[in-house]
This record gives sequence, structure tokens and C-alpha cells, in this order.
Amino acid sequence: MKLADARKDYYRRLAHEQGYRARSAFKLKELNESYRLIGPGFYVLDLGNAPGGWTQVAVKLVGNQGKVMGIDLAYVEEITHAHLVRDDIQNEHLPDEILSYFGRKVGAVICDLSPQVTGNWSLDHARQISLNYDCTKIMDKVLAHRGNAVFKIFDGEYTLEFRDYIKKKFARVNLTKPAASRKQSSELYCVCMGFTG
Ligand SMILES: C[S@@+](CC[C@H](N)C(=O)[O-])C[C@H]1O[C@@H](n2cnc3c(N)ncnc32)[C@H](O)[C@@H]1O
Repeated sequence: MKLADARKDYYRRLAHEQGYRARSAFKLKELNESYRLIGPGFYVLDLGNAPGGWTQVAVKLVGNQGKVMGIDLAYVEEITHAHLVRDDIQNEHLPDEILSYFGRKVGAVICDLSPQVTGNWSLDHARQISLNYDCTKIMDKVLAHRGNAVFKIFDGEYTLEFRDYIKKKFARVNLTKPAASRKQSSELYCVCMGFTG
């Protein structure tokens, strides 16, 4: 077995053992250990949350005083203490629905969106980045001043353009690849701290 496959199996087994629905849970855990995007009491919006691994992690991180809302096109099986909405993030009514659920702006927006992949990397990359711009439209309306965000990125020609766009809205922005993300996957995470609008 190749090292990359062994690592993939490792996180899959760990997810199963620890009751997470997806191995991606470990990417958010790791990003949070490095950057502290989410803390106790935070209100967290999780965009593209199916099957719910990140939502499960967020619920644990925010604790009893926090709130988590997850939105996805796909059905997500209930997660205790999370509010789940099945919808397209491109729908313009969503910011109002989000603010009405939380009652105020949120402390973190976490985005792990992937389009339906075609195998044509340039196309998949462009579509994925476009979903991230859709997320920023929601984020601009619902993220509190000094709040944090993270965006998954399919790495490609528009990565730096997106990074530079988001850089204007935050005090600190980093592109990073967590160990739980497969080496050969060309996915990165853009971690954004301290929203300035
Ligand atoms: C990699 S999965 C998310 C995994 C999730 N973070 C977890 O830990 O379980 C990407 C998700 O993005 C969702 N997605 C893609 N386009 C979307 C859209 N326009 N609106 C809402 N969700 C979308 C897909 O349905 C898919 O479930």
C-alpha cells in the first residue's frame, strides 16, 4: 500500500472510531488547532456541510453556549444541536434566514464546497472558486466584525486571485494544506482571521 493510501485509510478509520461522518472532520480539527477559528460560544455557519463531518466538529467546539447552522444542497441526517437547512447557497433569501436563526451576526463561516466534479480540472477548479465567491456574498452579510472564515480551494489558476480578493476583507489570510488532506488532492484551505468587511 502506498503511503498516501495508508494515510487515507488512517483518517477513515479514525473517523469511524470517533463517530465522525467524514474523514474531512480531521481537516477542520487540525485547522482549528493551528488557527483557533472557532471557540466556545461561537455562532458558526457551515456552508456545503453534507454529510456533516465539519458540522459535528463545530458543534463540539462551540459547546452549549454556541450555535451551528449547516446548509447543503444534499440531505444531511440530523446532528444534535445543529440547525440543518437543505438549500442552494446561491439563493438570495439565505442571508435573511441565517440572521433570523442566529439572531445576530456569526463568529465564523466555514466553507467546504465542492461542485459535481467532471474530471476536467480547469472546469472543476473554476466552478469551485465560483462557489467560494458565492459564499463570500453570504459571508459579507452575516459575519461579525473580527470574525473568522475558512474556504476549501481546488488549487488552480484562480487561487491567488481569490486569495487576493479575500485578503482585502481580513486582517490575516493564509493558504494551507492540513495533513488530513490527501497529498495528491490539489486541495488547499484559505484560512481568514479578523473580518474587517
Ligand atoms: C466535500 S462536501 C462537504 C463535506 C463536509 N464539510 C463534511 O465534513 O461532511 C461538499 C459539499 O458541497 C455541497 N455543495 C456544492 N454546491 C452547493 C451549493 N450550490 N449549495 C449548497 N451546497 C453545495 C455539495 O452538495 C457537497 O455536499
